[in-house]
Amino acid sequence: MSVGIDIGRSGVKIVSKGGTLPIIPAIACPAVSIDDREEALRVSRETVVVDGSPWMYGSAAAIHSGSEPGIYAGFEQTVEYEVLIAGALKTCIQNGIAINKVVAGVPSEAGQDVKDLVAGLFRKHGVESIRVIAQPAGALIAAAQVHPELVAEGSSTAIVDVGRYSTDIALSQNGRPVLGAYASVPGVRLAVDVLASSLRGKITGTASFEVLETALRTGKLVYAMKEIHCTAEIAAAKERLSADIKRTLQTLITRQRGNIQAVVLAGGGAELITLDVPVIVAAGRHAVARGFALLAEGL
Ligand SMILES: Nc1ncnc2c1ncn2[C@@H]1O[C@H](COP(=O)(O)OP(=O)(O)OP(=O)(O)O)[C@@H](O)[C@H]1O
Ligand SMILES: [Mg+2]
Repeated sequence: MSVGIDIGRSGVKIVSKGGTLPIIPAIACPAVSIDDREEALRVSRETVVVDGSPWMYGSAAAIHSGSEPGIYAGFEQTVEYEVLIAGALKTCIQNGIAINKVVAGVPSEAGQDVKDLVAGLFRKHGVESIRVIAQPAGALIAAAQVHPELVAEGSSTAIVDVGRYSTDIALSQNGRPVLGAYASVPGVRLAVDVLASSLRGKITGTASFEVLETALRTGKLVYAMKEIHCTAEIAAAKERLSADIKRTLQTLITRQRGNIQAVVLAGGGAELITLDVPVIVAAGRHAVARGFALLAEGL
């Protein structure tokens, strides 16, 4: 079966013809031995062997390592990334998906060397037919399923994919990526950082990424079981994220001498930002993987 796999900093999204799988938290850590028999069995389902060493991934790693998804550059070069690839493939098999063709993605700023590296990792873990493309292309293909004009002859479309680590902005003409017309600015982590620093003095200790991100989404910060009043801080943090994205999008559009007909907004952070142009929302956090799955069918 053909599968689209989008390995993001917060979660691994998998789409096949059979539908979408639950998002796997993008966390990996060396396996630990678990005494409790039932829990050990659950953890074994989220354990893979990479270069002879056992690693836990997903919720098993989240629970037993206590860590959150990493927010650092050079993700594709880490062993954790390879563990997530092996984990994604294992999850497919566990869900009855017999993989034969995979399309996966990298941020648009990644060069051919990174694409080759990622393709090599999939081959190492048994996938023979693999194609690695820029993540925004997946979002564009998914949106074009509903709005075919986005990739039609003469079309000129911008894609904004608001992720956890980065917001990828790219331009396409006639459905093809425009050489050099892409930019990467921080993702949701920027709003989380801004909110964290504006809360100094209001809370003791440091709120986790997840707690701060939930506050951005719900408008309410609950820390150590208490609600902290910070509506203005939350609004300012979201505004800062939007402002950076708007500025970069505008620079790319100016480069195209204003010739843009539509903006596709994708990624799990899409709902946190506002742009001052009309947007087509590529539905759901699985949009990139859905576009990849459509492409994989044609491999
Ligand atoms: N329903 C939700 N509840 C909580 N958080 C969410 C939800 N949907 C998305 N998010 C958050 O939105 C952010 C962006 O999600 P997305 O899956 O697009 O990021 P990613 O692809 O993993 O990151 P990147 O593209 O930077 O590698 C993440 O920080 C994620 O935690
Ligand atoms: Mg992403």
